[in-house]
Amino acid sequence: MRTATSDPSSLLLSPPPSRQQAAMAARVGLVTCLPLCAQVRGRFLDSLHRHLSSPGTAILKREEPPAGSAEPGLQEKSNNKTFSEVQKERREQAQRSILISCPKKVPEKKLLKHLCQHGEITNHFFFESFGIHAVIEFSKKESIASLQDATFIPRGETEFPIPFKSRFFHLNLKNPSNQTSDGMLVQCSNQSSPLNADLIQTLCNAESVEGQIITLMRTLQITEENIRLRYLSCSLIEDIAAAYFPSCTIKPFGSSVNSFGKLGCDLDMFLDLDDIGKNSATKTAGPFLMEYQVKSVPSERWATQKILAVIGECLDNFGPGCVSVQKILHARCPLVRFSHQASGFQCDLTANNRIAMKSSELLYIYGSLDSRVRALVFSVRCWARQHALTSSIPGAWLTNFSLTIMVIFFLQKRSPPVLPSLDYLKNLADARDKCIIEGNDCTFVSNLDRIKPSENTETLDILLCQFFEYFGNFSFNKNSINIRKGKEQNKPDSSPVYIQNPFEPALNISRNVNESQLERFVHLARESAWILQEDKGRSSKSSSHPWGLAALLQPSVSNKSKAKKPGRGPTGPCLRGK
Ligand code: GTP
Ligand code: MG
Repeated sequence: MRTATSDPSSLLLSPPPSRQQAAMAARVGLVTCLPLCAQVRGRFLDSLHRHLSSPGTAILKREEPPAGSAEPGLQEKSNNKTFSEVQKERREQAQRSILISCPKKVPEKKLLKHLCQHGEITNHFFFESFGIHAVIEFSKKESIASLQDATFIPRGETEFPIPFKSRFFHLNLKNPSNQTSDGMLVQCSNQSSPLNADLIQTLCNAESVEGQIITLMRTLQITEENIRLRYLSCSLIEDIAAAYFPSCTIKPFGSSVNSFGKLGCDLDMFLDLDDIGKNSATKTAGPFLMEYQVKSVPSERWATQKILAVIGECLDNFGPGCVSVQKILHARCPLVRFSHQASGFQCDLTANNRIAMKSSELLYIYGSLDSRVRALVFSVRCWARQHALTSSIPGAWLTNFSLTIMVIFFLQKRSPPVLPSLDYLKNLADARDKCIIEGNDCTFVSNLDRIKPSENTETLDILLCQFFEYFGNFSFNKNSINIRKGKEQNKPDSSPVYIQNPFEPALNISRNVNESQLERFVHLARESAWILQEDKGRSSKSSSHPWGLAALLQPSVSNKSKAKKPGRGPTGPCLRGK
C-alpha cells in the first residue's frame, strides 16, 4: 500500500479559485527549473544554454561582441532563426504548457510524477506572484486534454464557480500535513532585480563603464522563464478569444519580444484575426464561391472596437486570473487593459495593430545585429526612467519606443555606422519579406545572415558618452530623426521633437512630447555627457563614490552641475519598473 505522501493521486487539481481583485505585482520571482529525467534534462540544458546568454533575443541571435567586450555570453553564435520562426516556436511551446497555482509548500518531485501520468514533461519552473505558481511544458498537447479530463471544477460554499475549463489549474494537497514533511519542497528565490541601492553598489564595483553597462543589462533584462511566461499568458488569453474566433491568434509584441524588455515591463498582446481570412481564401475550388454569412459594420475601427468589447467582457467574466479589466475602446488604438494576476503582467490587448508588430520585429533585428545595441538601449532607457523622463503613465514625455529609435538613429550616424538604415534593410529583402500594411511599405530583410556586420569598433564607454553628447547638441528645432534614411531631415512641422514613424512616414512617434520635457532631456543629456567625460578612466579602484553609469543613475545628477530643477514630470522613477 502506498502512503499518502508517495501517492501521486494525493494531489488534486482544480481550476484556480476566484481571488480578491488586487493590485498587480509588477514583478515575477522565478524559482526553480528542474527537468524530469537525465535525457530530458540534457536536452533542456542544451537549449537553455543556447538561449540564456541573451534572453531577449531568445533563439535568434547574431550579436558580435565589440572589441574587449566583457559579455562572454554575447559571443555565442546561434542558428539565426527569423523573428517569425522564433515566434512560431515559442507559441507552439506555450500551447503545450499549463500554469498551476500551487500551495505554499509544494512537493516538486511528487507533482512532476503526478503530472507525468498524462505525458512526458519537457520543461518546468516555479515562480512567485500572488503565491507559488508552476509552468509545466508537456512534449505533446494531448497531455493537457488528458489532465483536463482528470481535473475537477471546484465547489464553493458561498460562491458559484463559472465552469470554464482553461489551462490554468489550482493544486490542492489531499493531506497537507503529510506532504510538508517531504524534503523536496521548492525553494523560493525571488529573481526580481535588486533594489536601487544594491544595483548602484554593484555598478560601482565594476571595472569600467562598459562593465557597468553590461551588468545593468544582465540584471534588468527579462529572463528565459519570463519570456516563456509571456508567451504562455498570451496563449491562455488566446484560448478565451478562440471561443468566439476559433482560428484567431494572440501574439506578444513590444518589449516582450523586441529584445529590449526589462523585468516588469508590460505585456503587449496583439489579437490577430487576419489568419482566419487567409484560410478561407484558399478554398475556392469548383464553380461556386462560398462565403460566410457575416454581420458588417461601417469601418474596421468599429469592428475592432466591437470585437475587443466582447473579449474584454469574456476576460472579465470568465478569464481565470484576469482582474481589473478596462475597455479603452475610444483610444487612437483601441485596447483592453487588464492584469493577469497569476503571471504578474499588466496586459494591453489590441487588435488590428500589425504595424506595431512589424516595428517589434524591426527593433528585434536591430537588437540582434550588434551586442552594443541592446546594452546601450538598456542604459539609456534606465537612465531616462530614473530621471522621470519616461513613465508608465501616458503624457507629454518620451516613450521607451521613441528612446529606442533615438539610440538606433545615433548608431546609424556613427562613422563607420554601427547600424544600417532601414532603407538598406529594405534593399536586402527578398520576395518573402515583402510586406504592405494599410498601404505602407513595411518591407525589410528578415534573414540576419544577409546583413554585413559593422566595421565600427567603438567601445560602449565611448558610445554612451557620445549618445549624450549627440542628443545634448541635436538641432531639435530644425531637424527630424529618420531611421529609414539614417539621416536627420528638415522637420515638417513645429513639434518640439520629431521622430519619423519608420513605417508611416507622415507620423511623428514623439508628437506628444512638449517643450519642457525636451528641455529636461537635453539638459540631462549634456550633464550626463559631462559626468562621463569627467569620470573617463575611472574604475572601482579609483573611486570612493558612484562613478560612470552609477553616477548617471543617481537622483542627485541634476544638482551636480547646478541644473535648473526639472518641472513636475512623470512620477515614481524606479529602476525596477518599466
Ligand atoms: P515598454 O515601455 O517597455 O512597454 O516598451 P514597448 O516598446 O513595449 O512600448 P509600448 O508598450 O508603449 O508599445 C508597444 C509597441 O507598440 C512598441 O514596441 C512599438 O512597436 C509600438 N508603438 C508604441 N508607441 C508607438 C507609436 O507612437 N507609434 C508606433 N507606430 N508604434 C508605437
Ligand atoms: Mg510594452
